[in-house]
Amino acid sequence: MVKYLGKKKIAIFISGRGSNLKSLIKYFKKKNSSIEITLVISNNPKAKGLKFAKKSEIKNFGLKYISKSSFENKSLKLLKKNDVDLLCLAGFMKILSRNFIKSFSKPILNIHPSILPKYKGVNTHERAIKNNDKITGATVHRVNEKLDSGKIVLQKKVKILKKDNIKSLEKKVLKIEHEIYPKAIVKFLSKI
Ligand code: GAR
Repeated sequence: MVKYLGKKKIAIFISGRGSNLKSLIKYFKKKNSSIEITLVISNNPKAKGLKFAKKSEIKNFGLKYISKSSFENKSLKLLKKNDVDLLCLAGFMKILSRNFIKSFSKPILNIHPSILPKYKGVNTHERAIKNNDKITGATVHRVNEKLDSGKIVLQKKVKILKKDNIKSLEKKVLKIEHEIYPKAIVKFLSKI
């Protein structure tokens, strides 16, 4: 991949399927993009999503998660070596330590399948349905030391219909995740 002068470099952390990674790769592959994905790291060497990085010849590492500190130390070295400007979590299911966030020193974004501050953590769609919510959505936010609590960059809502179940809701929300994550990254990087 040709690196243009002044391109912003992003790294992506994943844990599994990688549909957000796939959509980000597609978006930033566009000609004249001023942003490039330079590095993909998974905390699970078997993560299906790694195949999208391989296919696009993006440097990728499936690190065995022996402990939080060993994963974070190895990742930090890779992030620094690759001179990354922004780290994006895309279906990354581990909580980064305060030490990691401080040592990396560059911003970190995350995508979360709910309208934050509602439903931090896991099982967001299940909780929205159980509570008879009429609306849910997705949020891109800054990562800080508190779970799903950093400043919001972009959100989009979607209606929950009577016929929706966890699976159909996940599908609907994923669709808007794929739409807002690249936009949020462009918006965020244009301001720093
Ligand atoms: C996405 O819905 C993402 O928002 C969520 O995991 C899914 C990953 O899908 N992330 C979290 O819940 C983080 N707390 P993907 O691997 O297909 O992108």
